[in-house]
Amino acid sequence: MSEQKPAYRGRVKYDDKTARKYQVRKEGKHNAEMRMVDRAFALVPKTHRVLDVPCGGGRVTVHLAKKGYAISSADLSDSMIAITRETVAKNKFNITVEKQDIENLTFNERHFDTIISFRLFHHFPNPEIRQRAVTALCRVARKYVALSYFSPASMTSVKRKVRAALGGKKSEKHATPLKEVESYFAKAGFKLVKDFAQLPLIHTMHLALFERVGESKP
Ligand SMILES: C[S@@+](CC[C@H](N)C(=O)[O-])C[C@H]1O[C@@H](n2cnc3c(N)ncnc32)[C@H](O)[C@@H]1O
Repeated sequence: MSEQKPAYRGRVKYDDKTARKYQVRKEGKHNAEMRMVDRAFALVPKTHRVLDVPCGGGRVTVHLAKKGYAISSADLSDSMIAITRETVAKNKFNITVEKQDIENLTFNERHFDTIISFRLFHHFPNPEIRQRAVTALCRVARKYVALSYFSPASMTSVKRKVRAALGGKKSEKHATPLKEVESYFAKAGFKLVKDFAQLPLIHTMHLALFERVGESKP
């Protein structure tokens, strides 16, 4: 990728080497994250057409495809897209994986019933990018958006803050209060259905499910 000054490192970080490295994940951590996805998707009908963006190497894509969702995937990194395509083929699913920028999705309005955006929002360094991404997701989602974010109300976040205050390395990961996340969605016409914590008050990772205001169909 040839961007000169990316607004955040996560935008350009995933070249072939980094993308491959990202696939090696601790099993316990992966399972805990997928349990959180399952808790949110317990509210999402199996008939929903789902978009996974960013799909990374496709672990959420495959997890949801195995549950029977009709899923499409997208990411900005060519290396990640290649890995998802391999993963999808290995699992014998027929899933479209395409290159998209979450800040400017090119799908038609309400093209998907539900969108999941997992493990990217905490990379966004400022409110402008956060709002742009949420607005793009909400434009393309007919009913639900499930968005992961890092909560400041957690031991992990407090530890990161203390470390930075004591002169340690400043984290590139940004915690955002739920109220702030809700305000981005409110501007895009969505309201919170439920917030799921990976491990309440201990772990920073949350997944919040939002729904379009006034949408009556399931
Ligand atoms: C930490 S990975 C998470 C991937 C996947 N959701 C998972 O949990 O395994 C973050 C992903 O965001 C992608 N990404 C970064 N900026 C993006 C953007 N503006 N639009 C779409 N994808 C982006 C990266 O290429 C990377 O694959």
